[in-house]
Amino acid sequence: MLFSIIYLATLVLATTNDLSQWIDQETSVAQTRLLANISPSGGAPGSVTAAQSHTNPDYWYHWVRDAGIALTEVSHWLNTTSSANLDKTMQDYSHFSRALQTAGGTYGLGTAKYLLTGTPYTGPWCMPQRDGPALRALSFIGYAYRLLQEGKDVSEWYDSKLPTQSLIKTDLEYVSHNWQVDDMNCDIWEEVRGHHFYTRMVQRKALVEGAQLAQRLGDPGAAQWYQQQAEEITQDLGRFWDAQAGHLRTTLDFNGGVNYKTSNLDSQIMLAALHGGMDDGVYTVESDRMLATAVALIDTFGPLYPINKVKSTTIGNAEWPIAWALGRYPEDKYTGYNSNGPGNPWSLITSGMAEYHYRLVGTWNRRSEIKMTQGLSDLLEQMKAYYGAVFNQSYTVGSTYQKNSPAFNEIAANTEKAGDMYMARVARHTDANGQMFEEWNLNTGYGQGAPDLTWSYAAHLSAARHRV
Ligand SMILES: *[C@@H]1O[C@H](CO)[C@@H](O)[C@H](O)[C@H]1NC(C)=O
Ligand SMILES: *[C@@H]1O[C@H](CO)[C@@H](O)[C@H](O)[C@H]1NC(C)=O
Repeated sequence: MLFSIIYLATLVLATTNDLSQWIDQETSVAQTRLLANISPSGGAPGSVTAAQSHTNPDYWYHWVRDAGIALTEVSHWLNTTSSANLDKTMQDYSHFSRALQTAGGTYGLGTAKYLLTGTPYTGPWCMPQRDGPALRALSFIGYAYRLLQEGKDVSEWYDSKLPTQSLIKTDLEYVSHNWQVDDMNCDIWEEVRGHHFYTRMVQRKALVEGAQLAQRLGDPGAAQWYQQQAEEITQDLGRFWDAQAGHLRTTLDFNGGVNYKTSNLDSQIMLAALHGGMDDGVYTVESDRMLATAVALIDTFGPLYPINKVKSTTIGNAEWPIAWALGRYPEDKYTGYNSNGPGNPWSLITSGMAEYHYRLVGTWNRRSEIKMTQGLSDLLEQMKAYYGAVFNQSYTVGSTYQKNSPAFNEIAANTEKAGDMYMARVARHTDANGQMFEEWNLNTGYGQGAPDLTWSYAAHLSAARHRV
């Protein structure tokens, strides 16, 4: 069955005329298919399956992380449409999440995945994982503000009691009391135990935004505690920089699991800027250390996958230049079915790199200036070397370019175009009907691993939302 899907797939939608149209069309497919994964038949209302796949691989579970990332998109989308159906989806997800918070199990709130009925998964698994509660809190905070604006009671989402009965505070209490002691906790790929940059970043964001919400809702003691923990995490994040390698490291204090990830370079660091960045400069997309890491990732994955030799793809009637397909980490052995290697490029990571570029441009537009750092200069040099970008204006590290200056315009236009080239790469490997998989075969480019991965659709929606 899976094989017939793979081999019948044709590249990119034939009816689109250009990349913008493809992105819009894919957004519509992604919305439909992401919603189909929420409250699926056989699952409880509000449960979110990670993919439409019961076997090889079996992703028929509610992962707290994947659900949090997906429902954050639903919450944004609800804000722009005010659809009653989407509101019902958020309500169902809220009730289901509360049931999970009280379901117990060996790892409590560190349980990474649940059956779609709400029962904690009890088979062998890399647990606990401590990014999930932070991502779940984040998926509810924006929704709680929306409810407040509508004059509704939000005590189901936040109350100031201890012990609390509310969704967000339950997760914030867990995060704020457990982030330091988690050296046995597993990373987002569920393979390595230790302290993880991504996990820290989303925990920090949840605590900062949670502190603001607590303050607003008359819980100043909690606000102060969450803020203080967030500041300690910020301090701790400094440890992840590897000056010698010139990039951030994904895991510190390695405590077991996959032991062949010798580079310690992982695309989840880039995802941390997207999911945990807060516009305060702390490892946001434009921070020099994050840029240096993005550059290292692009350098690493470019030559790794044979499909990256292809430089353009047909969308509609035109050829579109494409950027490189990116994977999780260079030593990856997960094929989407087993760990017998080699690892493949992933849809959600390549969409993520598109979003990374769009967010750079968005940040510069908001600040009305571009600060040229070494990391940014290196990224622009890569655009020249790998993607044929042309820069007629000179730029120098240490300079600042004001909005509407020729240098600003040229840097922003080339960065936006690089973002589009990553989107066009995703278009090339997405099925003609818009179906996304978890991965693309590194040799053939066809979808591989879990079909209709919820996170792949969420990543497309997020990238499209940030396109400038
Ligand atoms: C939705 O809108 C509310 C009210 O404007 C806002 O506070 C909240 O952050 C928005 N949610 C998201 C996910 O953007
Ligand atoms: C940059 O220079 C090239 C070559 O001289 C020229 O073709 C192109 O139009 C210039 N681009 C801009 C934006 O000025």
